[in-house]
This record gives sequence, C-alpha cells and structure tokens, in this order.
Amino acid sequence: MADFPEVRGQQAAHSNVPAIAEQAVSELNLILVGPPGAGKGTQAEKLTEDFGLPYYATGNILRDAVAQGTELGKKAKEYMDAGDLVPDEVIIGVILEALASDEAAEGFLLDGFPRTVPQADALGAALQDVGRKISAVLLIDVPDEVIVKRLSGRRVSRAGRVYHVDFDPPKQEGRCDLDGSELIQRDDDKPETIRKRLAVYHDQTEPLVDYYEGRNLLRRFDGTRTPTEVHDHIRATVATLRLEDEL
Ligand code: AP5
Ligand code: MG
Repeated sequence: MADFPEVRGQQAAHSNVPAIAEQAVSELNLILVGPPGAGKGTQAEKLTEDFGLPYYATGNILRDAVAQGTELGKKAKEYMDAGDLVPDEVIIGVILEALASDEAAEGFLLDGFPRTVPQADALGAALQDVGRKISAVLLIDVPDEVIVKRLSGRRVSRAGRVYHVDFDPPKQEGRCDLDGSELIQRDDDKPETIRKRLAVYHDQTEPLVDYYEGRNLLRRFDGTRTPTEVHDHIRATVATLRLEDEL
C-alpha cells in the first residue's frame, strides 16, 4: 500500500480543563458521525483535549493531500469538488494504516470515517483482527435546513480549526485565534455543493445509523444545541462509557 506521509493524528493541545485521560486508562475508540456541518470537527477539537486521543478526520487528511498535490490528493480532488465521496478503496487503506500506527494503539477519534457500509465493514474487520473494538459511535443530529445556514458562514484556518462568522467568530475577523493564519471558505461550502453533500449523506452514510444501532454502539446527540451544550452531553456520555468499561 502507498505510504501517505500526510496522515498524522492531530494530538490534543494542552488546556486548563482537567484531562480525563489522566484518570483512567481503558482504550477509547470513538467515531463521530453526522451530516455535513453537524459540528463533527467542532466537537472533535474539544474531545481530543478531554480524552487525549489522536484525531483522524478524513476530510482534513484529503484536503491536505489536495493542497500538497500528492497521489492521494490527485485521486480525491474531483470527487470532493463535486460533493461526492471518494471511492472506498482510496480512503479505507489510508485510515487502516493510520489506526495501525503506534500513536493510535491506545485509542482514537475518527471524524468522517466510516461513511459507507463497506467502509464500516472494513473498519470492523480490521479492528477485530487485532482484538480491538469500537467503543461508541457518536451521532450528531442536525436537520438539513440548519446545515445550509451553518456551512455558508463557516470559515476554516489552514490547520483546519473551524469558526463561524456568527456562531463562533474568531477574536480578530478573518484570522485564526491559534496561529493567526488567514481564514478561508472551503471550496465545497457553495450552496449547490452543500445540497449535493446532504443528498450523498442521506443516501450513503445515513444507513450507518441503523448499522451501528443494531450493534448497540450508537449514541445520539442533538446538534442544534449550542456547541458547549453538545460538548457537555458527549463528554458525559463518553466518560460514563469508559467508567462502565472499567467496572
Ligand atoms: P468532511 O470534511 O468530512 O466534510 P463533512 O462530513 O461534509 O463535514 P463538515 O466538515 O462539512 O462538517 P462538520 O460536521 O465537521 O461541521 P463543523 O464542525 O465544521 O469531508 C469533505 C469531503 O471529503 C467529502 O464530501 C468527501 O468528498 C471526502 N471524504 C471525507 N471522508 C470521506 C470518506 N470516509 N469516504 C469518502 N469520501 C470522504 O461545523 C460547521 C459549521 O457550523 C462551523 O462554522 C461551526 O463553527 C458551526 N457550528 C458547529 N457546531 C455548531 C452548533 N452547535 N451551533 C451553531 N453552529 C455550529
Ligand atoms: Mg469537518
């Protein structure tokens, strides 16, 4: 398999929030699922801090690859610009390779993968082969009409930090709070591409809700609440899961 050097976990930054990871040791293998604009990236940033997990967001990995013009980026660009999914065989190998790394040996947070039933099957089989399992699939639910408004106001930094012009503005307009880089609009946040991405979500990704519910792994969160409320709910759920696992 090709080696994609752009695949790296984005390690948790330090914060004053007490790290739950310091208090417990059991493995947490988490997946964030939800429609485009549900707040997966927004919540992931907080959860990686809470639980000290390496973070793999396939959208960020693919956008980096496109920006660097790598083999992976060349394969993915056309699909992403159209709001389509990249083919399963392109993305599955990338993620399985990342999860097999030392960094992910004691847990991980996935955002944007799996996104199809074949991707979910491949992930389940790969984890089972090495005696690991998914801890929980965290579904952030948001209706379509809210999504369009959210995504048209989204701005992102070069490193992938997410803002919203109204709901989560940076301290200085147009600049990232963390590294001062210019904030830009994603190419796929045009209204017609947003509608296409939503259709693709309902058609190809939503079947995973039943898939993981049937495996008793699904946890639902109301993504129309504020980012802080959504975070509080997810963090409490994950902390409880981990405690239950240790008992
Ligand atoms: P990807 O980057 O994963 O895009 P996505 O799933 O469409 O999700 P988004 O990143 O758009 O939304 P999000 O849920 O992260 O929301 P965010 O936190 O930014 O994938 C892009 C493309 O890559 C795909 O279309 C596909 O082509 C390809 N791809 C990726 N993975 C693939 C895979 N596995 N297989 C095949 N192809 C794949 O928040 C959105 C906005 O809302 C922000 O402005 C934020 O500030 C704001 N916000 C967040 N939470 C709230 C809240 N609670 N209230 C108000 N505003 C909020
Ligand atoms: Mg995202």
